[in-house]
Order: sequence, then structure tokens, then C-alpha cells
Amino acid sequence: MTERAEQPLALVTGGASGIGEGCARILLEKGWRVVVADIRAEAAQATADRIGAAALTLDVTDAAAVEAVAQEAEARFGPVDALVTSAGVLQPPTPPEDFALADFDAVVSVNLRGTYVTAVAFGTRMARRGRGAIVTIGSITAVRAVPLHAYGPTKAAVVSITQCLAADYARSGVRVNCISPGFVATPPLQAAIARGQRDPRLLTESAALGRFVAVEDVGRAAAFLLSDEASAITGINLPVDCGWLIGAHLGTYGGVRPARGGA
Ligand SMILES: NC(=O)c1ccc[n+]([C@@H]2O[C@H](COP(=O)([O-])OP(=O)(O)OC[C@H]3O[C@@H](n4cnc5c(N)ncnc54)[C@H](O)[C@@H]3O)[C@@H](O)[C@H]2O)c1
Repeated sequence: MTERAEQPLALVTGGASGIGEGCARILLEKGWRVVVADIRAEAAQATADRIGAAALTLDVTDAAAVEAVAQEAEARFGPVDALVTSAGVLQPPTPPEDFALADFDAVVSVNLRGTYVTAVAFGTRMARRGRGAIVTIGSITAVRAVPLHAYGPTKAAVVSITQCLAADYARSGVRVNCISPGFVATPPLQAAIARGQRDPRLLTESAALGRFVAVEDVGRAAAFLLSDEASAITGINLPVDCGWLIGAHLGTYGGVRPARGGA
């Protein structure tokens, strides 16, 4: 990472892979300095080396470790101006009666508690300085029923945490917004497709735009929400879903309407 302290600094949890890596890469392109923070130390370092970021090891389920990383990041790189909380885990579509509570708790611990603990650790420091912005990563499953009985509720909670913290920090100069991606072909979704648990044709056909969301699509939305261009925006949940929320229910009417040709 360049050491030009006049460039703003962003930390991305879950930044070693997928959406977090995409956010980190786009922020770097937009002139931010970036710290990639991930539970997988080697992967975080490899991603950071590849894209030109710094790396820190972070387990968001360990509140003391999150606090220590917030201190270390600021001691080594300076005040963290922006945070993206992309650390998260998926779950298999197990029927609720077969879904072990220990597995439920594990999803809650990363997606819900981890997001809250991280946002508060960095948000508190931003609020004391009177400046900062946070983007949390929710999901379209926050607002539509899916057979993911822990994952979906954790994402609904992320939207709620976003709103609660946005209201709390607003007068302290800190904005907090959520991005809810649609289907992004990151390693966990690719693995589910490879296992035959998800059909890529159905995933893309039900989105109005007819394609997967790219990690860069989420990264560009995050870069906007973290920038001063979005200075009047706080507490929102922005779907970046290729129109899945408007397209999915059209199945009962024969599906998303075809192109009218001529292009
Ligand atoms: N892929 C999708 O279709 C999709 C859609 C909507 C939302 N999301 C959300 O986007 C976020 C990123 O998911 P992804 O698809 O890029 O997956 P991914 O597995 O590629 O990336 C997640 C990263 O989080 C890290 N991580 C996991 N547990 C952690 C912990 N306890 N502490 C720190 N880091 C941890 C992983 O090591 C990994 O690098 C998740 O919150 C996920 O729920 C994904």
C-alpha cells in the first residue's frame, strides 16, 4: 500500500475474496488506500499484494480482536475514513427441522454479530473524529423469503443495524448505508452451483437484467456511498441486484419480458 497519508483510508472486512475483494479493488482505483482484513491471513496477504493494498488478519466473531485490529490499523496507517463489512458466510438450504442450532449460531455470529461489532469498533472512532462512512453488506434475502433460515434473518438484521447506527452516528458526521447484492458468482455461490444446489440459469433468468451481479458492480456502489458524492445519503438499503427484486415474481406471468430486438 502507498503511504501517502493524504489519500483517504478504507478497511474492508472479508476483503480477501469475492465482494470484499471487488470493493477493495474499486476503492483503490478511485484513489483510496485500502486495508484488506480477513480471517484467512494468507489469502488476505495474497489479495493485498495482488491489488496493492495492506493486509490484516481479523476474525469478526472475536470482539476483542476486532478492537485490536481497529487500534492496529489506525496506529500503522492512520485514521480509517471508511469501512466495508463484507465478512460473511453462506449456509446450505437445509430444512429448518434438520438445521443444527450450532450452525444457526455460527451464521449469526459472523453475519450479524460480526457486522455489528466491526461497525461499532470503527464507527465509534469515526464518530469521535466527526467524520466517516460505513457500508454494510446485506442481501436481497433480507427482504424476500428464501430457504436459508439463518442467513436470511441475519441479512435482515444487517439492514436494521445499518439503520440504527446511521441514526445514532448522523450528527457525529458518520454515514452508514447497506448494499444488498443479488446473486454474485463468488466462490461460495460457485461451490453451491458445482454441488448442484443452485442452477445458474435460474439465478440469472429471474434477474430483470438477465445476468449475475459482478463484484465490481457492488464495489462501484460502495465507492459512491462512501464518497462525499453521497453526503446526503444515510440509513438506506441499496439493492445492487440486476433487478432480481423486480424480476423474480414475474415467473407467475411467464417470466421477465424478452428484449424487443433491434439493438
Ligand atoms: N455472493 C453472493 O451472491 C452474495 C449475495 C448477497 C450478499 N452476499 C454477501 O457478501 C458478503 C461477501 O460474500 P462473498 O460472496 O464475497 O463470499 P466470499 O466467501 O468470497 O468472501 C467472504 C470473505 O469473508 C471472510 N470471512 C468469513 N468469515 C470471517 C470472519 N469470521 N472474520 C473475517 N472474515 C471472514 C472469508 O474468508 C472470505 O474471504 C457476505 O456477507 C455475503 O453474505 C453475497
